[in-house]
Amino acid sequence: MDERLTQGRWLRIPGPTPLHPNVVRALGHEMVPQRGTIITEMMARVQPILRKVHGTESGQVLLWASTGTAGFEASIVNMTNPGDKIVVTCAGDFGNRYAAAAETLGLDVLRVEAEWGSAVTPEQLDAAIQQHGDVVAVMITHNETSTGVTQDLAALAAVARQHDALICVDAVSSAAALPINMDVNGLDWVLSGAQKAWMCPPGLMISALSERAIARSHETKGYPRFIWDAPMMVEASRGNIHPATAPETSLFALDAALMAMEEEGIDEVFARHARLGAHFRAGLEKLGIEFLAEEALRSNSVTAFRAPGGSAKAFQAKVREQSGIELAVGQAQWQDVAIRVGTMGWTYEPELDATLEAIAAAM
Ligand SMILES: Cc1ncc(COP(=O)(O)O)c(C=O)c1O
Repeated sequence: MDERLTQGRWLRIPGPTPLHPNVVRALGHEMVPQRGTIITEMMARVQPILRKVHGTESGQVLLWASTGTAGFEASIVNMTNPGDKIVVTCAGDFGNRYAAAAETLGLDVLRVEAEWGSAVTPEQLDAAIQQHGDVVAVMITHNETSTGVTQDLAALAAVARQHDALICVDAVSSAAALPINMDVNGLDWVLSGAQKAWMCPPGLMISALSERAIARSHETKGYPRFIWDAPMMVEASRGNIHPATAPETSLFALDAALMAMEEEGIDEVFARHARLGAHFRAGLEKLGIEFLAEEALRSNSVTAFRAPGGSAKAFQAKVREQSGIELAVGQAQWQDVAIRVGTMGWTYEPELDATLEAIAAAM
């Protein structure tokens, strides 16, 4: 079982996801001087592709050695001051975590909640912003990994813009899988982690900042910050270096993944994810599976469905035992209710078909 798991096609959880073969090779790269030309040329090479994936021409994409969760903290300490009012869309476990991070850091948080399996509506968000008053920022989970729901980022962002709030987006399970259109949607801080659709190992937090976000980060002085200081990171990033020792292995991996994405074509990467999501859902439908996300909101990067037989843990174990394929169970109140399957990153039809077969056999 463990040996098969080491081949990415058996790993069907929504992150970490299978590594691209070029990424696997890049992980063996020897260390180099951290401010030498190998690093600076690589940093210069990845920036335009990172911008393209985020859909921004003028934004700056920063690479911190950390995971997606750190993006919650980094966005908060740079975009807000303690006590500021913010609104967080909570449509699942990760929206709740963004809100919890903000509360822990002393923000005045209004959570706008959606039933699990559905999404926050623009009307709800509008009402929440008006109710809270003087809202500095709105935090939106683009793709709720815990429920398999993709929220309507464009519509939610449009509401936040109307109220002149900064827009921070948790794109951990959407970046590099679904279009984010950062400039078109007027987003300010888009955070993600390398272990999802970026096809890389965990360990890199990726944050795209708009010009407005960069300007704002120079004004906010309320939180003590050092490694999360965006102005310092932006300056280093524009000089194609890292302000501390560069996380070289993570960067070599990301470079390889971005080259593969560029070769495939960024629009084709998004189109492939749309195809794969639809393909997998169609297969599940044939099996009579009950989806947990509302039909119009079903994500192309992660699918959540009710565990056949009633217990997610038991179903996960059965699939693992019979086929070696690793599925994810649910989170929080859905822990033993939901089965979640990742269809993002280094993924094609054959492994999804194998997963469908394994699910059918275990039902
Ligand atoms: C939507 C979303 N936000 C945040 C996170 C947290 O990211 P990390 O585990 O990299 O800290 C995850 C991880 O699965 C996620 O799916």
